[in-house]
Amino acid sequence: MSNRVHIFDTTLRDGEQSPGAALNVDEKLEIARQLERLGVDIIEAGFPISSPGDFDAVQRIAKQVQNATVCGLTRAVRKDIDVAWDALKGAKRPRIHTGLGVSDNHLQHKLRKSRDEALEMGVSAVAYAKSLGCDDIEYFTEDAGRADPDYLCRVVEAVINAGATVINVPDTTGYATPEEYGAIFRMLLERVPNADKAIFSAHCHDDLGLAVANSLAAAKNGARQIECTINGIGERAGNTSLEEVVMALKTRRDYYGLETGINTREITRTSRLVSNRTGILVQPNKAIVGANAFAHSSGIHQDGVLKERTTYEIIDPADVGISESKIILSPRSGRAALKHRLEVLGHTFEDAAFEKVYERFLEVADRKKMVYDEDLEALATDEARLVNQ
Ligand code: KIV
Ligand code: ZN
Repeated sequence: MSNRVHIFDTTLRDGEQSPGAALNVDEKLEIARQLERLGVDIIEAGFPISSPGDFDAVQRIAKQVQNATVCGLTRAVRKDIDVAWDALKGAKRPRIHTGLGVSDNHLQHKLRKSRDEALEMGVSAVAYAKSLGCDDIEYFTEDAGRADPDYLCRVVEAVINAGATVINVPDTTGYATPEEYGAIFRMLLERVPNADKAIFSAHCHDDLGLAVANSLAAAKNGARQIECTINGIGERAGNTSLEEVVMALKTRRDYYGLETGINTREITRTSRLVSNRTGILVQPNKAIVGANAFAHSSGIHQDGVLKERTTYEIIDPADVGISESKIILSPRSGRAALKHRLEVLGHTFEDAAFEKVYERFLEVADRKKMVYDEDLEALATDEARLVNQ
């Protein structure tokens, strides 16, 4: 089995389903351009039948994108598939993403269909998409995280026979644990006789805060596509965060043994663009892209990082497009951090003078909580004046 994991970005579809995240067509095109720079393999550009605006966005992204596959979502009905194919067929690499629920909960309460009826609908949808000339068809088995394993295997085998090339196994409700979700992939790959004809894909939601862990467990158990969004935005608690899953695979390559095609130096730029255009702020302590992800605040940590970055950093900030880590000057900062920042600003002091600056720094830090370069300039200039009097 290949060690290459395809990154399927659904910021413009599942991500845009975040409350308040609506994007206009120009913003979607701008984000799609940046996703290409980032190196994602597949861009899910929207749900073409959902609105004329979504159709337009998918059609324009399909024409603009050169390297990535462009994908559009459909329900497992002909009308949706016709509209999606109209929007997608101008793409260099078009993909139709169709499917329907597989858990008894979804079959009974949402679809109101028997297992056999739903299976038949799914098979017909895939065959229909294929008959239009689409040879890249992804099938989603919605709510697979809560489905009966025997039925899931039957559906997967049938839709691969009908022409599906990618099988999406979503944990739609964010219910599964990493061990359970990984085991679903292992089971599918072992039990479905034609499993080698398709790529298996992880699609996780973060209702229990497990989306990234579940996606990684899926990859460890044979998934070779991970569906994710920038900053983890998406329905309810969101989707698997692209930056977290990609950096986990890269940083722990020793453990996962897997590769992606992502240019990780574009991660921070992409995160800021998406936050800016959707208006959804990134929490400061968010892994990889939060404002504090590479900031060191306590004196002990600052001293360590200034001596050797890897004492408290497992990722080089340059790898995600950040020029350097931040040393936050606060009441918890020690002499090493203060001396370093003063030197960066061009101020050096003899030991006795430095002690005086440090004492005054602590007074300012207690009062203001954070000490900025302007405050340091004022402290340093005052002290230099006293020394020269
Ligand atoms: O979460 C989910 O199941 C989905 C499907 C529509 C792919 O987003
Ligand atoms: Zn989803």
